[in-house]
Amino acid sequence: MNDIAVTVNGERRGLAGVPAHATALDWLRDTGLSGSKEGCAEGECGACAMLLATPAVDGGTSWTPVNACLVPVYALNGQEVVTAEGLGTIDDLHPVQEKLAEAGGSQCGYCTPGFACSMAGEYYREDRVAADDDACPVHDDDAHDDPEHGPNGFDLHALSGNLCRCTGYRPIRDAAYSLGAPEADDPLRQRLDKPAPVAVATDAEIDGARFIRPATLTDTLQLIHDEPDAVLVAGSTDFGVEVNIRGRRAPLVVAIEQLEELRTLEIGDDMIEIGAALPLSEVERRLAGRVPLLAQLFPQFASRLIRNRGTFGGNLGTGSPIGDTPPALLALGTRVVLASVLGEREVELSEYFTSYRQTVRAADELIRAIRIPLPLAEVTAFHKIAKRRFDDISSVAVAFALDIDDENIVTAARIGLGGVAATPLRARATEEALIGKPWNIATVQSASAILKGEGTPMSDHRASADYRSLMLGSALLKLYSTTKHSDSKEATA
Ligand SMILES: Cc1cc2nc3c(=O)[nH]c(=O)nc-3n(C[C@H](O)[C@H](O)[C@H](O)COP(=O)(O)OP(=O)(O)OC[C@H]3O[C@@H](n4cnc5c(N)ncnc54)[C@H](O)[C@@H]3O)c2cc1C
Ligand code: FES
Ligand code: FES
Repeated sequence: MNDIAVTVNGERRGLAGVPAHATALDWLRDTGLSGSKEGCAEGECGACAMLLATPAVDGGTSWTPVNACLVPVYALNGQEVVTAEGLGTIDDLHPVQEKLAEAGGSQCGYCTPGFACSMAGEYYREDRVAADDDACPVHDDDAHDDPEHGPNGFDLHALSGNLCRCTGYRPIRDAAYSLGAPEADDPLRQRLDKPAPVAVATDAEIDGARFIRPATLTDTLQLIHDEPDAVLVAGSTDFGVEVNIRGRRAPLVVAIEQLEELRTLEIGDDMIEIGAALPLSEVERRLAGRVPLLAQLFPQFASRLIRNRGTFGGNLGTGSPIGDTPPALLALGTRVVLASVLGEREVELSEYFTSYRQTVRAADELIRAIRIPLPLAEVTAFHKIAKRRFDDISSVAVAFALDIDDENIVTAARIGLGGVAATPLRARATEEALIGKPWNIATVQSASAILKGEGTPMSDHRASADYRSLMLGSALLKLYSTTKHSDSKEATA
């Protein structure tokens, strides 16, 4: 137990005696590092943000901002974090702190350490490029001309998980957009050139509760075979909320987010395989728009802070009917790779969900990866209907993937729905109504009427059943209005 330690602001701090369910935030504050604040304890406000040293694709390190309130502290064994206290001091402010102060971006200051950490993550992002530089590997040229990117390439979405009650966001944005590049002798910049800490196998038992990070996938599969009540944890963006808000205390937590086999991303000739525990931000960066449907989904999924930890495996692992990835993955025809001591099996995502929060995954299986078949459909779209544009749960989510041939005939259709039944589902009747028909307003209107009746929507605090049906009905019309086919091909139909 004495070896279990986290490097915080360059200093190694032991975890001896810390409860197994403790979050990084609780531990930091208990040890006197009270810069990180607790605003909500459920990933919504970003007051707790800290920087985590994570592996970069080039073999170096990235400073990745994450919600300290959601990460189990034992998941940080052997890792390095930087809190607001580690950025700068009162006498020697860090550039992000200096700019926040100069722009008047802080009043009560409660949110400021979290903003400073999220901003620092973007400040040190190695592929941040200025607006007039078209070398950005993630976004097309136009993306940098929009009001959500600064002239210095600062991506405002980096702050989408940080809330401020008193300042107003413009001074904070001004501070972000006035940041320069890190100096060559900046120690946090220099740290990026060296590899990130490796995963450290961990087994900590405190007062009957145990946290284990197995060394290998084989060990993990054996463990969940022997201990069917073990709770798998990846990014902990769902599990952390359960722990903090619902008081969940699992007797055995098994951390899987650093297993190499769950962090792959391979683009082959006939499919793209994505490791179930690769954080969504990392998937977004590595795909770089290669799957347009996912490129539409990512910015609408929670906040950057959540996407820096949240995973496909976790989103499918909850079995939730309102998760945002299932509708998109259903439209993409995704298959789920389940692994156990017996080996791997592949399941169509459309057959994965069985009833409310139930799936075909056995207790001794984990999701190792997802597989998206290639080629991708030609026309795709993701519509998330929620009360807020960012960082909100869907009332309804609809994803479309259609192929339309040169004769303007729909040759294939897959439509994924979320929020309208006990499970995510395919809109099979609507798909049938589209396939073989010309892609014109008459087809779309009659298919929309069918789509409106798909699923069994219910009324709750997010939306009424009628509203959900109406949103389904209008989604296909919206897609039609935005497809090039409606302009270029209907005239010839
Ligand atoms: C503020 C906030 C906003 C959010 N916004 C959204 C949103 O917009 N859209 C949305 O869909 N979700 C949202 N979520 C929910 C959450 O972020 C996602 O469900 C995320 O994908 C979970 O991934 P994770 O790795 O953090 O899961 P974890 O919390 O680690 O795990 C979640 C569940 O999945 C299981 N699990 C994890 N990995 C695997 C695996 N490989 N195999 C089998 N089981 C596994 C775990 O046992 C656990 O039961 C939000 C959460 C928060 C806190
Ligand atoms: S305390 Fe609000 S996001 Fe962590
Ligand atoms: S300055 Fe008060 S909450 Fe942001």
